[in-house]
Amino acid sequence: MSKVTVIGAGNVGATVANVLAHKDIVKEIVLVDIVGDLAKGKALDTWQQAPIDHYSTSLIGTSDYADTANSDIVVITAGIPRKPGMSRDDLISTNANIVTSVVKSVLEYSKNPIIIVVSNPLDVMTYAAFKASGLDRSRVFGMAGILDTARYRAFLATELNVSPKDIQALLLGGHGDTMVPLPRYTTVAGIPVTELIDSEKLTAIVDRTKSGGGELVKLMGTSAWYAPGAAAAQMVEAIVKNESRIYPVCAQLTGEYGLKDVFVGVPVRMSKNGIEDIIELKLNKDEMQLLNDSAAAVKEVMDVFDKM
Ligand code: APR
Repeated sequence: MSKVTVIGAGNVGATVANVLAHKDIVKEIVLVDIVGDLAKGKALDTWQQAPIDHYSTSLIGTSDYADTANSDIVVITAGIPRKPGMSRDDLISTNANIVTSVVKSVLEYSKNPIIIVVSNPLDVMTYAAFKASGLDRSRVFGMAGILDTARYRAFLATELNVSPKDIQALLLGGHGDTMVPLPRYTTVAGIPVTELIDSEKLTAIVDRTKSGGGELVKLMGTSAWYAPGAAAAQMVEAIVKNESRIYPVCAQLTGEYGLKDVFVGVPVRMSKNGIEDIIELKLNKDEMQLLNDSAAAVKEVMDVFDKM
């Protein structure tokens, strides 16, 4: 049974730990935060839920990386949200420093973990973690696509008045305004979505998905945590259970889709070794253009990080 470390015991990190504990598929979860008591408190709270919800996953909270020793999987949610007056570059620099130091600390105690990055801005934070780790690209990737796809599927379920369970979809590209939804690959119980919804409504849903994170920030004054936490826990599940699930994740491309040395969302097959394969779809010209634009936008931010 696996040991999973979750770094950052804020809203998202605590949700990852809580959802994962409920799945009852890992032996131990270590929740780490610079605010050690926060991590301890949230781990204890989730452990006290175990007798009620019936799971055996043990949890500890800590700020000491020695407790993370021999982790199989590490989920990174540490970071700070953008504050008023803070430039995007300041945010990148602050969070990249956090992610870099977290990765270095983790690797002091775990030799070859799989690292799942959740901290934003996602694509460049995944790059920062990859760079700091020196691990193979199959073992360092980011969670964005499952969340973005879930938002898209949820909006479609509401519009079509069907269960979200029956909606399958795929998104490519960066996590943000330039994400690339693929209506051609969206089905409702196998029925192409384009047969069920007119293009105007579909475009509106795609646009809402693109600003899905911002919609929640506006409502709550902070970014979301239930769906992001559940999405990261689902990735852990695919790895721990060696499931061969097909998920969109932020991965380093080394020639796939004609793109090189950029971190963007693509469908992958996920199993015990992390990314087992990157799946290359046969995109049409318009879709390829959107993906290229998205990759160029991510590359720009990666370059900002490289120059820091
Ligand atoms: N090491 C460990 N924990 C850290 C560090 C660090 N170097 N720096 C900050 N943290 C912790 C904070 O103490 C805080 O508890 O990270 C946690 C972040 O939690 P929240 O502020 O609640 O943020 P959250 O909503 O969980 O989002 C975390 O995930 O989805 C992304 O955009 C989101 O980048 C953000 C991240």
